[in-house]
Amino acid sequence: MLVNGKSYQTIWMEGSSVMMIHQNMLPFNFHIHECKTYWDTCMAITEMVVRGAGAIGAAAGYAMAQACMEAPEENYIGFLKEARQDIESTRPTARNLFYAVERVFEAGKISREKAMEEAVEVARKDAEDTRSIGLYGSQLIRSKSRILTHCNAGWLAFVDYGTALSPIYTARDQKKNVFVYVDETRPRGQGARLTAWELNNENIPHLIIPDNAAAGLMAEGKIDLVIVGADRIARNGDVANKIGTLDRAILASHYGIPFYVAAPTSTFDKDCKSGKDIVIEHRNQDEVLYQDGIDTNGNMVRIRVASPGSDAYNPAFDVTPAKLISGIITEKGVVKAHYQSIAALLKN
Ligand code: MRU
Repeated sequence: MLVNGKSYQTIWMEGSSVMMIHQNMLPFNFHIHECKTYWDTCMAITEMVVRGAGAIGAAAGYAMAQACMEAPEENYIGFLKEARQDIESTRPTARNLFYAVERVFEAGKISREKAMEEAVEVARKDAEDTRSIGLYGSQLIRSKSRILTHCNAGWLAFVDYGTALSPIYTARDQKKNVFVYVDETRPRGQGARLTAWELNNENIPHLIIPDNAAAGLMAEGKIDLVIVGADRIARNGDVANKIGTLDRAILASHYGIPFYVAAPTSTFDKDCKSGKDIVIEHRNQDEVLYQDGIDTNGNMVRIRVASPGSDAYNPAFDVTPAKLISGIITEKGVVKAHYQSIAALLKN
C-alpha cells in the first residue's frame, strides 16, 4: 500500500533484522521499527508494535527464522524449541501466529536457509491471500453500500491489503462509491487510529463512530453491510475477533443486516471444535484506564480516563457464534460458517 506516495508492506526482512511499521505510533507518527533478534521481534508482538492476525503471523514466522539464524551449532534444536515457546507465548488468540511458527520450525529442522525461505513464503502468501479476499468480498458489495467495520483488519493487520478492508479497497477500484463507518474500537482504538488512517490514505469516505453508536445507525437504516476480520475460526464456524464483534453480530442479526467475516484459511483452527476451545487473551487493565494520544505540541502523551482507584476488566477478544455469521470470505471464495462447508474448504 502507498504511504506518502511510497509503497510499503506492514512487515519485511532486511538482512537478519525484521522491519515493521510501528503501529503504536500511528496515526501520529510514521516510524519503522527494527527487531535485530528473535527476542526483539517477540517483544514487538507482545507490545503490539505489530498487531493484527496476519501481521503477527508473519512476525512470528520471521522471529522463528531469526532464532534459526541465532541458534548455536551445538544446541541447534534445543535453542529452536525454546525460541518456539517464547514466540508462542507472545499472544494466544490469533491462529496465524501458531500456523507460521509451526511451518518455520519444521523448515528450520532441515536448515537455517529453509527456515528463512519458509518465513518469507508465509508472508508472501498472506499478501496474496488477502488480495484474493478482496476480489471475492467485493462481489458482496453493492454500489453506494454503507459498510460498518470493527477494529483494524486492513493492510496494517496483515502483510498487505487486509481482510475486512480488502473487499472495500477492491470495491473502490471498481468505482462502487462505498462509505465506511469505523467503530473506534475501545480500548486501544484500532478503528479510530489505524482503520481511519488507512482509509484516509486511500481517500475512502468514512466516519469514525463511538463503539456504542452502531445500534442507533442500524435502527436508522444507515448500515447495509458489516465486514469484520477474525483472529481464529473454529471448525464449526465460530469466530474469535476483537472484543465488541459479538455485539455487532447480534445487532446485525436483529436488524437483518448481512454480517460477513473475512479471513484467510491460515486463520482456521482444525483443533478447535467450537469457539469454546479458543483461548481469549486478557490484556493489561491500563489499556482501559488510560488513553494514548498527542498533545497540542505533537508529543505522545498518556492520560488517565477512568476514576482513580477503580480497576478494569480487559478481555481483548470475544467469540461470535456461527449462526450469526452470513458467510466467511476466504482466499478460496465465500463459505458458509458451518462444519461441512469449512471441512470442504480446508480439504482443498
Ligand atoms: O489485538 P489486535 O489489534 O491484534 O486484534 C486483532 C485484530 O486486528 C482484530 O481482531 C481484527 O479484526 C482481526 S485480525 C485482522
